[in-house]
Amino acid sequence: MGNLNAALQEASDLKKDRFAFKYLGNNKTLLMVFFNSSLRTRLSTQKAAMNLGMNTMVLDIAQNAWRLETGTGVIMDGDKPEHIREAIPVMGCYCDLIGVRSFARFENKQDDYNENILQQFIQLSGRPVFSMEGATTHPLQAFADLITIEEFKTKKRPKVVLTWAPHPKALPQAVPNSFADFMNEADVDFVITHPKGYELAPQFTRDARVEYNQKEAFRGADFIYAKNWSVFEDAHYGEILCTDTNWMVDEAKMSLTNHARFMHCLPVRRNVIVTDGVIESPHSIVFQEAANREIACQVVLKRMLEGVE
Ligand code: CP
Repeated sequence: MGNLNAALQEASDLKKDRFAFKYLGNNKTLLMVFFNSSLRTRLSTQKAAMNLGMNTMVLDIAQNAWRLETGTGVIMDGDKPEHIREAIPVMGCYCDLIGVRSFARFENKQDDYNENILQQFIQLSGRPVFSMEGATTHPLQAFADLITIEEFKTKKRPKVVLTWAPHPKALPQAVPNSFADFMNEADVDFVITHPKGYELAPQFTRDARVEYNQKEAFRGADFIYAKNWSVFEDAHYGEILCTDTNWMVDEAKMSLTNHARFMHCLPVRRNVIVTDGVIESPHSIVFQEAANREIACQVVLKRMLEGVE
């Protein structure tokens, strides 16, 4: 928690004057590489870099780059004209820092949990690399979430509930993994609620309390953090086991809480994950949470520019 407290203090200081280090990134270039779509991460990372005086470049791999082969030993006579092992060092030639977004592919759990793509950037780019959401973690989101909880908590040790909610598509575990990871280090009473079969990876949940009864988990909560994720366990990795709409966050369940703040990383499917009424209520802090993505990223970029681990 010592490190987290220092980072939170840095975030608070930067928020008071986000241009205090506007020359730190002078003549430095950030390359942001997206293998997947983004709204918040793209804009907040770019804004954070600009606050520090950096130049930014964005490469959307799926839209305007050569299709990349990522397999080893592949005879490249198909529709992918460039191998990632050439592409990454070339990208490194044009920048000073690299941010990478590469979601879980659900083809091979080992590849996802080894962060296969992110690790190749770390090994081959010759540049410091940070995650803009990998296959298994989304630390910039979790840091922004922690900053937001710090700002809105009304007691020293609030009850924070991470609740699974339904979704029509199989989503990665990156956001809940990182949220659990951070909450386990923060001074909060942390509870996770989800249907049986949705247990997250133990390296992230550690000793967190798991309550399978969602309504029980909501009782007395100060923060409700909703998110869908697909199955982690080997036999059903990346699958959807539950579509029970009763897990949606609604006004009745929020009434069980201690006037809890509602949080979600966004994008969110209304009336699937959460009702219109809850997300539009005065207790919803999803915009403040999204706004803190800029500050969270600025702390990380500032530290990277300063060479701080
Ligand atoms: N929360 C988040 O990472 O949003 P984007 O996917 O839009 O970047």
